[in-house]
Amino acid sequence: MSLIGSLSVLFNFRIMLLGFYFIVLFVFTEIAFAKGDCPQNRKTKSAPTKILKIENPIPKNPLNIKAGKSLYQRKAKPIACKTCHGINGDGIGDSSFESNPMPRNFTCSEMMETLPDGQLFWIIKNGSKNTSMFAFSDLSDNEIWQLIHYIRQFAK
Ligand code: HEC
Repeated sequence: MSLIGSLSVLFNFRIMLLGFYFIVLFVFTEIAFAKGDCPQNRKTKSAPTKILKIENPIPKNPLNIKAGKSLYQRKAKPIACKTCHGINGDGIGDSSFESNPMPRNFTCSEMMETLPDGQLFWIIKNGSKNTSMFAFSDLSDNEIWQLIHYIRQFAK
């Protein structure tokens, strides 16, 4: 093979390598996106100070976590939490429910650590104005605390 010939083979190989590099880069950014931003640009207001201080009063046992899971994944009315917050709690639910702001990414421990139990309770009970997070007024307080034990599991 002539010198020019082997140089052009080398050149083509480099172009292929570059193409491969971009494909890998693309796939990685897609995966990073699918997990939801962390921390997110949060729009929800703070609960009243008195409420913020309330800690989850029910025991964090397998029974309560399981009850929270079934509400989150299926039973909560009118729409189960997973529809917006995602099966894995990463804030990516059904695309038809995409919203601005995006639903909270519960897997983001950096953000979840800043949100006390009372805050989560207040928002599930009353909703968050100007976001698609509405008030779940059918849920009993006990059910909301069960949900909180469950959603806290995502950040571990
Ligand atoms: C229709 C979509 C939708 C559904 C259904 C939904 N959420 Fe949300 N949720 C959101 C959005 C949007 C936010 C606000 C994100 C923000 O403030 O940036 C949010 C925020 C939250 C927050 C965070 C509050 C804070 O202070 O940051 C909690 C906790 C929460 N949701 C729990 C739930 C639970 C539990 C359910 C089911 C019982 C549920 N959500 C169902 C869309 C939804």
